[in-house]
Amino acid sequence: MQIQWYPGHMAKARRMLEENLKLIDVVVELVDARAPLATRNPDFDALFSQKSRVILLNKSDLASAEQTKKWIEYYKAQNINAIAFVSTSSAKRKAAVSLIEAAAADKVAKMKEKGVIKTVRAMVVGIPNVGKSTFINRIAGETKAKVGDKPGVTKGKQWVKVSPYLELMDTPGLLWPKLENEALAKHLAYIGSINDDIMDAERLAADLLGELIAICPNELKERYKKIEEGMAAHELLEAVARSRGFILQGGVMDTERAARIVLDEFRAGKVAKITLESPDIEY
Ligand code: G4P
Repeated sequence: MQIQWYPGHMAKARRMLEENLKLIDVVVELVDARAPLATRNPDFDALFSQKSRVILLNKSDLASAEQTKKWIEYYKAQNINAIAFVSTSSAKRKAAVSLIEAAAADKVAKMKEKGVIKTVRAMVVGIPNVGKSTFINRIAGETKAKVGDKPGVTKGKQWVKVSPYLELMDTPGLLWPKLENEALAKHLAYIGSINDDIMDAERLAADLLGELIAICPNELKERYKKIEEGMAAHELLEAVARSRGFILQGGVMDTERAARIVLDEFRAGKVAKITLESPDIEY
């Protein structure tokens, strides 16, 4: 898969992230619940080894609840607390605040012994499009008033007060996904985290259908009636075109139009609540 990230941008983003890490107590890692592996840069573990961390499986409204639970258990086994989250809703705002505060509880207790009331500082990190900005806006909620620059802190840093003892850096830490693994790179493309212009949409949509027929055959057949199990990837795409009546002159299936529909409908969660990756499978 030919995808070009710009090394200069990546190095700058990483440098900024490393500088900001010095200022915070907790790293709030956002991953996309539909592809928790592909949307988590493997460098995270090394980068954040010295920090308390929590993981938010964001966009869980679009993912399989059962798989999300499995991922939460998987992280727990690595001593990382995680929750399912939906940044576009306020429902779990309190749960996220508690999770982040709990991650710094030891530090807060130690400071308390010294007679100091500590304000916990956190930074949101993640690859593009996982919902970092949406999350910051959501969690800042009504208390969106900025705390303002603090003396002694890198100039220009803004902190948003989230609770009496929790502040969030208003700029998220950006990291690039790793794209060496083709199966995982495809997952990023399916969920729309890689620029579509550089992808072959028909091949992508056909491959996606090939994965979906294994994950959720009934939902797929329900949505695109001409689909049958046992079809090859390109046949699945033709079946979608037939289901929707996308037929060109001469009876040729308009697979280009079908591909667009498949990708759009999958990304909008119209096929089913789907998680593309399971912690039990190696990719
Ligand atoms: P980023 O800062 O990490 O790059 O992500 P951002 O907040 O910009 O969010 C990317 C897209 O994901 C946005 O859609 C946003 O509304 C959506 N999003 C974020 N959190 C959730 C969630 O929990 N559930 C769902 N369903 N969507 C979420 P957008 O503005 O429409 O952008 P796009 O879809 O055109 O990329």
